[in-house]
Amino acid sequence: MSDFRDGVIDYISETFKLEDEILKDIIKQQSLASGPMMNIGPDQGKLIELLIKIHKPQRVLEIGSYFGYSAVWLARALKSNLAKAGENAEIEDREGVLGERVAERTSLRQYPLLTCLEKSSKQVPIIKANLEKAELDSIVEVLEGDAFDFLKKQSANSFDLIFIDADKTNYPTYFTFAEKILKSGGLLLVDNVLGLYNSEVLDPDNNDHRISAIRKFNTMLANSELFDSAILAIQSGLAIAVKK
Ligand SMILES: C[S@@+](CC[C@H](N)C(=O)[O-])C[C@H]1O[C@@H](n2cnc3c(N)ncnc32)[C@H](O)[C@@H]1O
Repeated sequence: MSDFRDGVIDYISETFKLEDEILKDIIKQQSLASGPMMNIGPDQGKLIELLIKIHKPQRVLEIGSYFGYSAVWLARALKSNLAKAGENAEIEDREGVLGERVAERTSLRQYPLLTCLEKSSKQVPIIKANLEKAELDSIVEVLEGDAFDFLKKQSANSFDLIFIDADKTNYPTYFTFAEKILKSGGLLLVDNVLGLYNSEVLDPDNNDHRISAIRKFNTMLANSELFDSAILAIQSGLAIAVKK
């Protein structure tokens, strides 16, 4: 990412106070660890939060969680929606329909609101600890293993929102699963659709297998009759698509 873009993101993040101590600490954990920085940007996190508040998904799937930075953004938005639903329920309660309120709450909590899929056994306890610190663990399940083992077992129309941010080589395959397991009207969000660090998809000489897979994914999404979609040039590209 260029210095200019970094400066802009820092400006937005500081002006709108996008990151609290929990999110800043997750970034710090990554910088102290030996691996790369791979989290979404705070500007993307805020955009995803707003999309969740507008779209109000009940079941969300994240493929690729790393330290849990994006999971915290996703789960906080879901928790905020849950609190709002709770407020409405209390109003109904005062009007004397207690039985309906209890039934509604029970159906909301029959499953975790967010399922995080993470292959690395080293990362899973870190993700869980960060979600616990953020008091989000009660609405999130973190599943260790290859995402495909989970995806193969899912029925059609299971999720209201899917966020893909795992190994880029498999983006085309993740897309074919998303076509099936996302509900009609559901939202598909995919990070790094312009590149790994910048906009490498534009460079015709870049034949890195991950970049080729991202290009293939973009073509599939653009040509899909199932999705209405766009790519936002935010960080290294975020695809937003609604399943028709
Ligand atoms: C880019 S990082 C995720 C960053 C995270 N979404 C965030 O913004 O904080 C990608 C993660 O996907 C995981 N991953 C890669 N291939 C996977 C697979 N087949 N199944 C599940 N997780 C996978 C990696 O271990 C890594 O932690």
